Amino acid sequence: MRFDILTLFPDMFPGYLSQSILNKSIERGLVEIHVHNMRDWAEGRHHKIDDTPYGGGPGMILMVEPVVNCVRDVQAMTSEPGTVIVTTPRGQRLDQPLVEELAVNKRMILLCGRYEGFDQRVIDILKPLEVSIGDYILNGGEVASMVLVDSLVRMVPGVLGDEQSSWDDSFSRGNRMLEYPQYTRPREFEGESVPEILLSGNHGKIELWRQAKSLEITKKRRSDLLED
Ligand code: 6GU
Repeated sequence: MRFDILTLFPDMFPGYLSQSILNKSIERGLVEIHVHNMRDWAEGRHHKIDDTPYGGGPGMILMVEPVVNCVRDVQAMTSEPGTVIVTTPRGQRLDQPLVEELAVNKRMILLCGRYEGFDQRVIDILKPLEVSIGDYILNGGEVASMVLVDSLVRMVPGVLGDEQSSWDDSFSRGNRMLEYPQYTRPREFEGESVPEILLSGNHGKIELWRQAKSLEITKKRRSDLLED
């Protein structure tokens, strides 16, 4: 799976990209991530990439020409143009079913918005998929792009050591419920004990207990997940 991240703030990514699961996947050749500075596509001595909005109003708008040129040049870097995705609070809300749909893509071009957004013609010309990571406003699409990458690389076969673990996670295929509680040593801490059943060695009973706990926490916190 290849990602090309188009941003005005490429320095936000190296720290994230060097974290363990992602870094290992990159080293093992399962995932490729290329970060591009959109400003490199801006013309003139000052590499102007944004301008004030027609009609007035606060903030700056990312200009159509450098952004469209940047996307087209980056798409042409390989034989597979890839799916263009814009991170924006106006987009379709990201959830695990959408992550699973997107995970069929071999290549994704992630356009990170900033300031007050893109000139609308960027959207009208490129017809990207617009994705939001939730109903709140971030300072820019960079963190949202990292969320997309993070959720998508988990779907690449071989990225997670134990394939079972993505299957069991909250919201994953096979399980649209919240995860059951987990414990490790010590058996008791500040008067709080590990549930006896987990020490019983009875795997059938443990599985039933976990399912019951999953259902209980999902009912309490996220009954909306149980509707279908
Ligand atoms: Cl994708 N971008 C921004 N700026 N804010 C957001 C978002 C994206 N998703 C939720 N809030």
